[in-house]
Amino acid sequence: MSSSISPADIVQLERALELAERGRGSTAPNPIVGCVMVDSDGSVVGEGWHERAGGPHAERVALDVAGVKATGATAYVSLEPCAHQGRTPPCTQALIDAGVSRVVIGALDVDPRTASLGVAALREAGLVVQVAEGGIAQRARRQNEGFRRWVRDGRPFVVYKAAVTLDGRVAAAGGDARWVSGEESRRRVHELRAACDAVAVGIGTVRRENPLLTARGVDAVVQPRRLAFGKGPLPEGSELELRTGPIQEELAVLAAEGVQTLLLEGGPTLAGAFLRSGLIDKLLLFVAPKLIGGDDAPSLFGGPGAPTMADAIETQACDVEVLGSDVLLTSYLAEV
Ligand SMILES: NC(=O)c1ccc[n+]([C@@H]2O[C@H](COP(=O)([O-])OP(=O)(O)OC[C@H]3O[C@@H](n4cnc5c(N)ncnc54)[C@H](OP(=O)(O)O)[C@@H]3O)[C@@H](O)[C@H]2O)c1
Repeated sequence: MSSSISPADIVQLERALELAERGRGSTAPNPIVGCVMVDSDGSVVGEGWHERAGGPHAERVALDVAGVKATGATAYVSLEPCAHQGRTPPCTQALIDAGVSRVVIGALDVDPRTASLGVAALREAGLVVQVAEGGIAQRARRQNEGFRRWVRDGRPFVVYKAAVTLDGRVAAAGGDARWVSGEESRRRVHELRAACDAVAVGIGTVRRENPLLTARGVDAVVQPRRLAFGKGPLPEGSELELRTGPIQEELAVLAAEGVQTLLLEGGPTLAGAFLRSGLIDKLLLFVAPKLIGGDDAPSLFGGPGAPTMADAIETQACDVEVLGSDVLLTSYLAEV
């Protein structure tokens, strides 16, 4: 049985997701994972999260905190426990050995080689296993969206972020795009850069703006790799890496080098090519209260568009956030 977890279960899973976030930025190439142990009275007896690759998994940490109180407890884990020997022993066996009686999982493992093996091993040992569904499950999956795309498809999870005017223009008719959006939006962009493995623009944007693409004014443990797609050459002094191959090939190479998340920052010609190749997973649109007018300014995507409404790409309902005088729209084109 996978469904019908209770509202109390959801509260504990939310806590597991919260704990997982403490590892963000330091677990690569592993996902972030959190775990909560709750005894039969409903008391939390252990909490843990995965802190760094090679270090103990969240379940192991929470089990160590719980000690003997893990016997008969329910383990809430944001991601399916591993059933294989990696750099650390399998978590399924640790849960079984500790006498945990029930395991509630936020998201199933996405790796085709190991998916569902954790659930199977636990059930085989007689534990009750439930897998979340609905909103909390979606949040658990999205928490590791970069990792999931990277493992499943051998490419980075691609987020296209752009700043647009109310009439959907990314620059003025003369090509000037500094600045479309306001200060708060631009600060958010630096946070986004700090949270991803690589940032990319097309060579057209490099020629126009010569951007640094660094994460500035925010805590960045490491700077993202900074890429320019196109034949080049790069302007004198540019520190961007030139990527001259076809997009898919470049993404495969980047993935092999460990890039799990790519923030695509435009411009429209490159973004249109990504869109038509089905390579944009998520769209972040900073909409500024400005109008350019006319039809001679660049819009969000360049190149040929959908010929009819029936061909339009349907994205998920947007999340909306107000940032100063701008609105940030977030929409998924694909989920993992
Ligand atoms: N508001 C915003 O958020 C925002 C963001 C970025 C840019 N902009 C604005 O957008 C304008 C620049 O946009 P743009 O469209 O001219 O430039 P762009 O999309 O940044 O770069 C286009 C170039 O990308 C290269 N490229 C590499 N792989 C490609 C592929 N598979 N398909 C197509 N192109 C590929 C091509 O160069 P090669 O021919 O050398 O291969 C192409 O000419 C500027 O005005 C800039 O200020 C606005």
